[in-house]
Amino acid sequence: MREYTIEEYKAFLEEHLTDFLPDIDHKSITLYDSMKYSLMAGGKRLRPVLLLASCEFTGGKFEEALPYACAIEYIHTYTLIHDDLPCMDNDDLRRGIPTNHIVYGDAVATLAGDGLQSAAYEAMQRDMLLYLDDHHALNKRIRAAYEITKGCGCRGVVAGQIADMESENKTCSPEMLDFIHLNKTAAMIVAAVRAGARMGEPDGEMLENMTIYAENLGLAFQICDDILDVIGDEKQLGKKTGMDSENQKATYPAVHGLDASKKRLKELTDTAVDALSCYYDNAELFTSLARKLEVRVK
Ligand code: IPE
Ligand code: IPE
Ligand code: MG
Ligand code: MG
Ligand code: MG
Repeated sequence: MREYTIEEYKAFLEEHLTDFLPDIDHKSITLYDSMKYSLMAGGKRLRPVLLLASCEFTGGKFEEALPYACAIEYIHTYTLIHDDLPCMDNDDLRRGIPTNHIVYGDAVATLAGDGLQSAAYEAMQRDMLLYLDDHHALNKRIRAAYEITKGCGCRGVVAGQIADMESENKTCSPEMLDFIHLNKTAAMIVAAVRAGARMGEPDGEMLENMTIYAENLGLAFQICDDILDVIGDEKQLGKKTGMDSENQKATYPAVHGLDASKKRLKELTDTAVDALSCYYDNAELFTSLARKLEVRVK
């Protein structure tokens, strides 16, 4: 079996990323422009790459997972637009360009987020409609969509975001901090991996191992993001640094200190890599994504 690289999955995703946006009436063109503005600004595309790779890893065809990969990037982009609003983190730089509300205003930015989120569901459901007569194929797609819907909702991102907001300017316990990070960030990374796997043919054990990988990667990813807010380079990150301390956010460096945060990051990426070690060389893409996080905070 030919293995694809992170760059190949990313290129494939970017080539098709706007394919599943609905045709919008010209009268609401501002909505479309603002949605595309944030979507096409770049970004690491971590979640869709994980989704496509997980599909292939579990014996599926990554091309078939494309609508779900685009959907998860639409949802992720919507969370970023809303996260940056003045009523949330009040950020004015994202993916190297001014945030959506700086260009379009708060109301349009809010609606661009709403539009991207509903476009994600439309993309997934339109795909399902093509398989109404194929029970097995439909079953996989419903399960993939369910993973994504669950991950971004009130038991996932939204729960994490409210806990994040309510923990500003307060002492935060380590348990609460992990709740925030596991929900606002890891939930979508778990959703990406599990949705991709649902499009393949994993056995129960493989799905479980992939979930352990994703949970650990997801938590490590947010710890890395927290550390980079302290020591990272604004140009390289494409977003402002120092915002977490300005907003008195509950972060790993604030609660545990920088050194302990780096140590925890390493432990988590080791656990993530271990979870897939029984698949030998096939898990290389997953391993290298995890190891990249350690390199980013060096
Ligand atoms: C930013 O996500 C929000 C977090 C969960 C830390 P990414 O770091 O994946 O942002 P993009 O997609 O590359 O811009
Ligand atoms: C954002 O976490 C998580 C979501 C967008 C759901 P952060 O607020 O730390 O992300 P950045 O640092 O603004 O990218
Ligand atoms: Mg935030
Ligand atoms: Mg933020
Ligand atoms: Mg951050």
